[in-house]
Amino acid sequence: MKHPILLAPSLLAGDHSALAQSLAIPESIGLQWIHLDIMDGHFVPNLTFGPQTVADLRKGSQMFFDTHLMLDQPHLYVEAFAKAGADLITIHVEPDYPIAETLDHIEALGCQKGITLNPDTPAELLLPYIAHVDLVLVMTVQPGFGGQAFRTDVLDKINLINAWRTSRNLNFRLEVDGGINLETAKQCRSYGVDTFVAGSAFYKANDKSAFAKAIQELE
Ligand code: DX5
Ligand code: ZN
Repeated sequence: MKHPILLAPSLLAGDHSALAQSLAIPESIGLQWIHLDIMDGHFVPNLTFGPQTVADLRKGSQMFFDTHLMLDQPHLYVEAFAKAGADLITIHVEPDYPIAETLDHIEALGCQKGITLNPDTPAELLLPYIAHVDLVLVMTVQPGFGGQAFRTDVLDKINLINAWRTSRNLNFRLEVDGGINLETAKQCRSYGVDTFVAGSAFYKANDKSAFAKAIQELE
């Protein structure tokens, strides 16, 4: 099945002293997904926000909370984020923790589940999980900070994962995150990506509706 193309703005690029207002911007132009970047200062060298913030944002929003956990010990936090109102929880393959059990736990908590990997992590590490997830996120920058340049060397990996999706008749969404603008989104689209995270490019766009429309109308 082909998924409709989605743009998920990353709230990381919003105003952290006014996150609810920053969240209201994509919602007011009819976007359905918001991407929430959760960082722990261990897996990545930066910190963002936790379950309390997500729960407070949930009270004022109907958006689909696409929650990206950049944590060393994500299994200890999935329940808190599910209770806070995450709709989808994506976990990394790199840290040492029980990944399959954590994906099962996310599902048992009533959330969709995603698996992700860093730009230098081999795609093969995803193979035990791809038949069981709702989304595969391919990081197109080293996670930790917004505003970095897209890594074109990741395109081959995207191509491979897309080929696995087709050959194995799987149905996960294929999402990219990092350095996504209209130009890099076009490149990713030609490799089968259907879900685009954009932080800086969205929040800095003068005409956010036009940007969103251009992404969502990529052939
Ligand atoms: C990076 C985060 C991204 C980030 C993308 O660690 O996972 O979601 O917000 O930001 P841009 O689109 O500015 O590269
Ligand atoms: Zn992210």
